[in-house]
Amino acid sequence: GRRRAMEGVRVLVTAGATVERIDPVRYLTNDSSGKMGFAVAEAARDLGAKVTLVAGRADVAPPGGVELVRVESAQQMYDAVLSRFAEADIVVKAAAVADYRPAQTAARKLKKTEATLSLELERTPDILKALGERKAPGQVLVGFAAETNDLAKHAMGKAARKQADFIAGNDVSKPNVGFGHDTNAVSVYTAEGLVEDLPLQSKRAVADRLLAIAYDAYKARAEA
Ligand code: PMT
Repeated sequence: GRRRAMEGVRVLVTAGATVERIDPVRYLTNDSSGKMGFAVAEAARDLGAKVTLVAGRADVAPPGGVELVRVESAQQMYDAVLSRFAEADIVVKAAAVADYRPAQTAARKLKKTEATLSLELERTPDILKALGERKAPGQVLVGFAAETNDLAKHAMGKAARKQADFIAGNDVSKPNVGFGHDTNAVSVYTAEGLVEDLPLQSKRAVADRLLAIAYDAYKARAEA
C-alpha cells in the first residue's frame, strides 16, 4: 500500500512566515501560521520520507519526527535551504517569505520624534528562483503562490520564471483558503497549465495529494 510509499525519499519543506527586523523589538512579518507547511512535513514523514523542515515564525507547534531548522529572516531561510538543497529529492516551499526587508536594521530601539518616519525597504533574495537555477534533473521543486486575482496566470508565470516543476496556487480571497485556516483549496499548475484542482479540504489532505503529485513526477524521472 501507500503507507510507507516514500521510504528513503528526502523531502525538504519550508513553512511559516519570515521576520524582518526593524530594530531589536520591532519587525515586519505576514499572516502565515505555518499550518500548510507543517501539514506537508507531517504527511511526508507519515509516508516514510526523511524530512527536513525549515520553519520561520509560526502560530502552531511543528510536527515531531522531522529534522527541524528554525530561522527568522528571508536571508536565514535562504542560507538554510540552499545549504541543504543538494541532499533533497523533493522540495516543497510553503513558507510565506518577505519580498522586502528594512534596508537597515537598527542596533538599538528606535526613538520616536514628532516627525514622520519613513522605512526604506530593499528586496530579499528569492529562494525558489535560486533553487530553480540550481535544480538537478532528478529533483522536483514545488512552490506555492498566494494570489487574490488571476490565479492561473500568476501561478503558471511563477512556475516558468522560477523553473519550478509545480506551483500550488491558493486564491486567498476565498473563505477558509490560505493564511491561518485549517483548510485550503489549491490548483496545481506547471508552467504549461493546470494539473489538478484540489477543492477545499484540510491542509493535511491537500498535503497528501500534493506530495503524491510530486512523488509521481520524481519516480517518473528516476525510471526514465
Ligand atoms: O502558513 P499558513 O497559515 O498555513 O498559510 C499557508 C500559505 C498561504 C502561506 C501557503 O499556502 C502559501 O501560499 N505559501 C506561499 C505564500 C507566498 O509567499 O507566495 P508568493 O507568491 O509570495 O511566493 C511564491 C513562492 O516563492 C512561494 O513558494 C514562496 O515560498 C517563494 N518565495 C517567495 C519570495 C522569496 N523571497 N523567496 C521565495 O522562495
